[in-house]
Amino acid sequence: MKAAESRVLLTGAGGGIGEAVANVLVGSGASVLLAGRSPARLAAQMRGLQQRLPAARVEWHAADLQQASSITALARQASTWNCNVVIHCAGVAEFGRFDEAEPERMAQVLSTNLWAPMVLTQSLLPHLRGLAQAQVICVGSVLGAMGLPGFSVYCASKFGLRGFAQALRRELADTRVLVQYLGPRSTRTKFNSAQVEDYNQATGTRMDAPARVAQELLRMLETRTVERFLGFPEKLGVRVNGLAPVLLDSAFKTHRASLRARPQTSPQTINEAMKHAR
Ligand SMILES: NC(=O)c1ccc[n+]([C@@H]2O[C@H](COP(=O)([O-])OP(=O)(O)OC[C@H]3O[C@@H](n4cnc5c(N)ncnc54)[C@H](OP(=O)(O)O)[C@@H]3O)[C@@H](O)[C@H]2O)c1
Repeated sequence: MKAAESRVLLTGAGGGIGEAVANVLVGSGASVLLAGRSPARLAAQMRGLQQRLPAARVEWHAADLQQASSITALARQASTWNCNVVIHCAGVAEFGRFDEAEPERMAQVLSTNLWAPMVLTQSLLPHLRGLAQAQVICVGSVLGAMGLPGFSVYCASKFGLRGFAQALRRELADTRVLVQYLGPRSTRTKFNSAQVEDYNQATGTRMDAPARVAQELLRMLETRTVERFLGFPEKLGVRVNGLAPVLLDSAFKTHRASLRARPQTSPQTINEAMKHAR
C-alpha cells in the first residue's frame, strides 16, 4: 500500500524504532495513530511531528498492552479512526542466563511481545476484513528465527510472533488482509541494556540505526513483502538455521562465554552488611 494511502495504528510509537517509523511514515504522507503508555509523551511526540511537518496527520491514544481492556479500547479507537494498517512495534527485552530469568518477567515478555499483538489483531480483524486493502506488520526480530544463548525468553516470544504472523497470513490468504513480519537485527535503542551491548561487542554483533529499520518497514509496507530480515550475516544465519539448525549448534561458544552469571550474594556478604548496618 502506498504510504500516502495508509492510516497506520503504530504501537510502541515512542520507542527507538517506533519513533523512527512514525517519522518516516508521517514524512511519506501516511496518517499515523501513535500508541504508547504515556499520554504526555505521545502528545509531545505529536506536537513535535506537527511542528516539523505542518501537513502531518497524526493522532495518539494511550494504551497499556498488558491489559486486555486497554487493547480493546485501542482497537475500538483505531477502527473508528479507520486504520488500514497495524504495525505491532511495542516490545520488551529480556537478556541473561535462563536459569536466572524471573517467571514473572517471562510472563511480561510473552504477554507484551506475543499475546498483545495477537489480541489486538483479533480485535481489529472485523474492521480490517471490511476494507479494500489492509496490512498487519509484526515487528519481530532476527531472534524470531534463530535462537541465541542469553535470549531464550525473548526468542520464545519472537518465534511465537513469527509463527503467528505466518499462520494468520495463510489463514487470511483469501481475504484482503496481508500479515507481514519484519525481523530487524540488533538496533541502537534503549531496548538494549549495557550487558547486551557488551555481549554484542564480545560476539562481533553489529547494530543498526533505528532509521534504517524504519526505512525497511516503509519498503515492506509499500512492496507488500511478506517477511524480511535485516543485516548480514544475520540473514544468512536465518537461512541456515531454517534449513538445518543443528549445523549452528556449535557456533555460539563466544556467545555462551560472554553470558556471565549474575553475582550471587553469599551468606557471608549478607552477614558483613548486617554488621555494618547495626
Ligand atoms: N532494539 C533492538 O535491538 C531490536 C532488535 C530487533 C527487534 N526489536 C523489536 O523492535 C520493537 C521496538 O524496539 P525498540 O528498540 O524501539 O524498543 P524501545 O525503545 O524499548 O521501545 C519499546 C516500545 O514498546 C512500548 N511498550 C513496552 N511495553 C508496553 C506496554 N505494556 N504497553 C504499551 N507499549 C509498551 C514502549 O512504550 P512506552 O513508550 O509506553 O514505554 C516503547 O515505546 C520491539 O518489538 C523489539 O522487540 C528491537
